[in-house]
This record gives sequence, structure tokens and C-alpha cells, in this order.
Amino acid sequence: MAAANNPLVRTEQKGRVAVLIIDNPPVNALAQAVRIALQEQLALASRDADTAAIVITGEKGSFIAGADIREFDGPVLEPALVRVLETIDASSKPVVAAIGAVALGGGAEVALACHARIAADNASLGLPEVKLGILPGAGGIARLMRLADPAIVLDLVASGRSIGVAYARRIGWVDEIVPAADLLPSAIRLAESLIGKPPRRISALPVRGTDEAAFEAAATRWAGRARGQKSIETVVDAVRSARTTGFSQAVERDFRTFVSLRGSDQAAALRYLFFAERQALRIPGVEPKAARPVKTVGVAGAGTMGRGITIACLKSGLSVVLVDTDSKALERAKPAIGEGLKRLAKSEQWGAAEVERKLASLSTANALDAMGSCDLIVEAVFEDEAVKRSAIAAIGKAARTDAVIATNTSYLDVDRLADACPDPARFIGLHFFAPAEIMRLVEAIRSKASSPQSLATGIQFARAIGKAPVLAGMCEGFIVNRILAAYRREMEVVLEEGGLPADVDGALEKFGMAMGPFAVADLSGLDIGWARRKRLRATQNPPPKFFPVADWLCESGRFGRKTGAGWYRYEDGKRMADERVSLLIERASAEAGVTRRSVAAEEIVQRALAAMLKEAAQTLEEGMALRASDIDFAIVNGLGFPAWRGGPLYYCDRHGLASMADSLEKRGSVPALLHRLVGEGKRISEYAQS
Ligand code: CAA
Repeated sequence: MAAANNPLVRTEQKGRVAVLIIDNPPVNALAQAVRIALQEQLALASRDADTAAIVITGEKGSFIAGADIREFDGPVLEPALVRVLETIDASSKPVVAAIGAVALGGGAEVALACHARIAADNASLGLPEVKLGILPGAGGIARLMRLADPAIVLDLVASGRSIGVAYARRIGWVDEIVPAADLLPSAIRLAESLIGKPPRRISALPVRGTDEAAFEAAATRWAGRARGQKSIETVVDAVRSARTTGFSQAVERDFRTFVSLRGSDQAAALRYLFFAERQALRIPGVEPKAARPVKTVGVAGAGTMGRGITIACLKSGLSVVLVDTDSKALERAKPAIGEGLKRLAKSEQWGAAEVERKLASLSTANALDAMGSCDLIVEAVFEDEAVKRSAIAAIGKAARTDAVIATNTSYLDVDRLADACPDPARFIGLHFFAPAEIMRLVEAIRSKASSPQSLATGIQFARAIGKAPVLAGMCEGFIVNRILAAYRREMEVVLEEGGLPADVDGALEKFGMAMGPFAVADLSGLDIGWARRKRLRATQNPPPKFFPVADWLCESGRFGRKTGAGWYRYEDGKRMADERVSLLIERASAEAGVTRRSVAAEEIVQRALAAMLKEAAQTLEEGMALRASDIDFAIVNGLGFPAWRGGPLYYCDRHGLASMADSLEKRGSVPALLHRLVGEGKRISEYAQS
């Protein structure tokens, strides 16, 4: 065939099969020019008398990562993907999708519009649109529901998670799995086998049956988890109604909803975070390619954090040597890690054999000497400077001379800890958030001696285990806990003025926070903050003052959820306001000479945001974060700030940065950086260190 090849989509003729290869690095996003090129090449192949079947694939064994997200800031550019997919669906010649690497979003929808799907054994598929504040707008929901049980489709589109090919085949999404190296020849063979047969159009199939009661229960669960995120509410509705709507009607309705959501403020905020996550990896002087390979990880300390980090490593296929000098702690850790992997197996759809394989990559020991084979070692012992220093010194002796040593600390001074390491250049901080096997955020802390290579290695390691690293400078609490402490302090002032924990948490949770600050404190354990306050009182002159109630709670043994009581009391895991806590708070107000008043929910939210803004501006001013978007990303992923509001700085920019600065001025002072940005009419969320 004399195909008029296009650099973005070229056609290679293989006998009677036209192979359309999309080549738009780095991820083959479906930009307008790609959609036009794809349509052209499809038209050529369909007119060509020598072509009897078509394969669509991506360059170098990849497929398509979806729409070009950068286009979403403007109107939909023609041809919309939904129209291109109509052409594929209606093709009289069979069209096969050869899926390598990833088929995400619009890419997964392209695959669904084809008449057969063959995938490489290392590929993954997903409809992550919900995370960008939209829904699959090119028929993805309606088509997938004709292959897979609608309850499964609901879970996939509402979570936006990617799945491996084995699960994709089990649910009916792909027809065949082949070794990655054999993808294209196999796809061509499959296409040849379909020549002369009527194309199997998914659009013509009926919607798969489902257990209605289970479906409704799942739909209700998902709607409850939306916390104000429209895209989640909308995909739940879309799947629910697509069960009973005809194919074309469902696709047109989803396309209209997609267009309207795409232009929404929520979608813009989520796009900002998408790019913030990637931007955070750009660290001047730290080249990702300088990172040393990490295959075996040492974890020192078999407590909660050590276990979580171990699970995260095993989950991602790394080997782990877990060391704890306390044999009992190790004995307790082993089954807990197994259980943790089994819990993940449910959502990741691993079989028992896969769980066993991952567990087999774990070895345990009582002595740090066992870490001699490790490429990177995470120290996760008890959060106490002396304990950590002695562990770091011992790890330094046991480790290979090229191994990177990372301390997992929430508050301690990484520079001082580095002094305990025989080679401080190989020492960094990696602050994981609990539960470490689930939470994506990791703060990477550069000590004054960390080499760029050590930092690059730590960051690439974090990425390899599915985490989203953000660089933080050495300051009390780094980024997240520093801002949490500032905002919690302000919320304690609200308690002193007249609010109660349930008022504060309720107002912030209604705003979309995953949890209010007092519920978070109860979950993390009040003893951690208690130890920190004692340390600060002992080390700072004059000693800082704190709202006394948290200390009083600890003194009476109320350490939060783990002791059944803290800021709240807990009955069957349910948090309940506690009259005794209210009395303590009233006592604190009386001792401070404050006449209590009722504090409205709007005021609580406004003051929480102002406190976050002020601390974030100071963090930027001190150079402790590289850019404002790093802070927004960290606060969304570390503090449960609603992603659909973009993060506190993005939110303040859009809801009156100047008036927020005014209110800070009235209550105290405004950081110079914030003052300057407001004066220049600039957005703080766009601020980056020059
Ligand atoms: N559009 C535009 N740019 C994209 C993109 C996309 N869909 N996906 C990735 N990129 C960019 C990234 O911003 C990054 O750019 P920089 O190098 O300038 O920072 C570059 O491509 C590489 O991306 P990653 O750093 O993320 O690379 P990775 O190898 O770690 O991950 C990936 C690759 C898994 C494909 C990941 O990039 C990803 O998940 N992309 C987004 C997928 C997605 O959400 N697709 C759905 C889009 S919505 C849609 O598809 C709706 C529709 O059609 C109607």
C-alpha cells in the first residue's frame, strides 16, 4: 500500500495487515495532531484494496497514555476522540489493538473500540480520568461494561487505578496475553486470523449482568468517598445509568459530561496537581540518571514504619533484608507483613502464588551485618535522636561503601543524624507517611552533606516503589508536619476561643479534608506530639508555649485511637465527642482568661487555610521547598487536603490571596514573600525558587 505516512502515525504494511504505529513521545498522548493522523491512516487503510485487517499499536512496543492533558485548558479540538473511535468501531476490516506498556484513559478507550485486544505480559490498563476531574468521554464506560461486570467497571473508573494484564484478561478487557517481545508478530497473526470474519464490535454487545444489590452497595460506597469530588460522583452515575441505556445514548451522554467536567475548576485543580507531581522531580543539580540501581533494600527496625516500608518494597518486586535486634519484634513483623501483602493482593488482584513469591524476597536478621548486600538501607528505628544515631553508626559500618543510607524521620535533624554516618555524603532523609505501604508521599530530605547521587538514588528508589517524592529542606517537620503543626496550633486557638474538636474537624471535613487535625492526631498517637513538645521545651530558649490540653490528655493516658481515647473517645472504632475533653478545653480557656464564643464553620476553614498559607509562604521564603506546587502536592497527599481544590496555595490564589493576607495581617504578621507576591498581583501557587 502506498500510505501517505505521517510522522505521528505511520503505517507499515505486513502482507494484508496494515500496522498503524503511533509515535508521539514521550507517552504517545492523543494530541489533536495524533487524532487527525490516526483518522487519516485509518481512512487510507480502509480504502486500500490490499489491506484486509488493521493493527493499532505504539512505537517501541508501547501503546497510548491517553489524551494530551495539556489540551484540556482550551476547548475540545476536532476531531474529538469519541468520533475517531466511531471510525474504528465501524470499520468493516477487523481492527486489533496491540497493547504494550500502558493503555490509559483515551488510550484504553482506543483499545476498547478495536475488535480485538492483545497485550504484552508487562502492560497495564486503566481509566484514570476521575483523577483528572473528568470521566472517560470516548465511550470507555459503555464499551467496558459490555466486556466486564459493571461492578468491576465501577471500581475501575471510580478509583482510576491501573490493572495488570492478567486481571484485565480475567475480567474480559483483553483477549490474549503474549510475551512483550512477541507482541507485534502475535497481533499481526491475530489480525490475519480475523480476515473475512465479521468484526466483533463491542458496541453491539449487551451490557454484562451484575449482582444488582452488590452493585448498588458499591455505588453508594463510592459516592460516599467522593468528599465533594464531582468526577467521582459523576462516574458513579455514569456507570449506574449505562446499565440500562442504549450504547449510543450512553456514549453521547458521557461525552457531553466529559466536555463539561473538563472545563470545570475541579478538573483544572487536579491537572495542576498532575503536573505538580512531575515538576517535583525536577531538582537542580540532581539528575535522575545519576541514581544508582536499587534491587535489595535494607530496612532497620521492624516497627510499624519498618513493616510498611518493607511491604511497599516487596509489593514492587524488590528484595528486602529486614533487621531488628529485638527477635520478638521480628517475629511479630513477619506475619504482619504477610497479612499486609495479602490485603494488597485483594486490590492488586494477585493470586496466592504471587503473594508467596513476593514474601520469598524478604529475609530477616537480628544483626545489621546482614545488610552487607543492600543497595539502599532505610533506618526506621524508634524516633529518638540517640537511638537513631547509634543505629545509623552501626548501619554505616555494616553497609557496603557505596550503599545509600536513608533515615525515616518525621521531625529529627537530618544534619545531626548525618554526623553519625561514617560517610555523610551517602546519607539522606526519606520521610514516609503512615501507613507506608499505602501513602504515596515521601519527603526526600537533603542533609548538608548529601551528595546529588545519593539524593537521586533515594528519589528514584521512592519512585520505584510507587511513591511520589517531594524534596524538603532541613527544618522542623519538613514540609507536611511543619504546616500541620502550624495549622493545628491555629485550630487549638479556635478551641481556646470556644470551638470543640468536633466543630473544627467537622468544618474541615465538610470542606473536603480527609480528616480534621484532632482526628488525625488521635490516629497518629498523641504521645508523638507530646515527646516533641517536651523536646522543644528542653531545647528552645525561651521554651515555646503550647495549648495545654494535649499534654493533659497524654498525662491521663489518652494517646488517641490506640488507647481508645484522645481528643475523642472511641466506641467500636467510631469516634465520639467526649464531655471530659470539652471540660478540659473549657478549663484551658478559663485559665487563659478567654470568654468562650461560638466559632462558625466558615471562620474555622478560613483560619485553617490562612495558617497553612502563612507557614507555606515561610517555608518557601526559607528555601525549604523548591516551589509552591511541591507544597500543594505534599499537603494534598500528606495531609488529605482535597485534591479537587488543588492544595492550599492553589486554593488561596483562587479565593482571594490578598484578602487572606489582609486577615493574616490583622491577626499578626504576613511573611515578606506573601506580601511581595500580593503587591505584585502574582499567584503564590506559581512561585518557584529562581
Ligand atoms: N498528556 C500530556 N503529557 C503527559 C501525559 C498526558 N496524558 N502523560 C504524561 N505526560 C508527560 C508528563 O507530564 C511528563 O512530562 P515532563 O517530562 O515534561 O515532566 C512526561 O510525559 C513523562 O511522564 P511521566 O514522568 O509521568 O512518565 P512515567 O514513565 O513515570 O509514567 C505514564 C508514564 C504512566 C504514562 C504517566 O505519565 C501517566 O500516568 N500519564 C497520565 C495518564 C492519564 O492520566 N491518561 C488519561 C488522560 S485523560 C484521557 O485520556 C481522556 C480522554 O482521552 C478523553
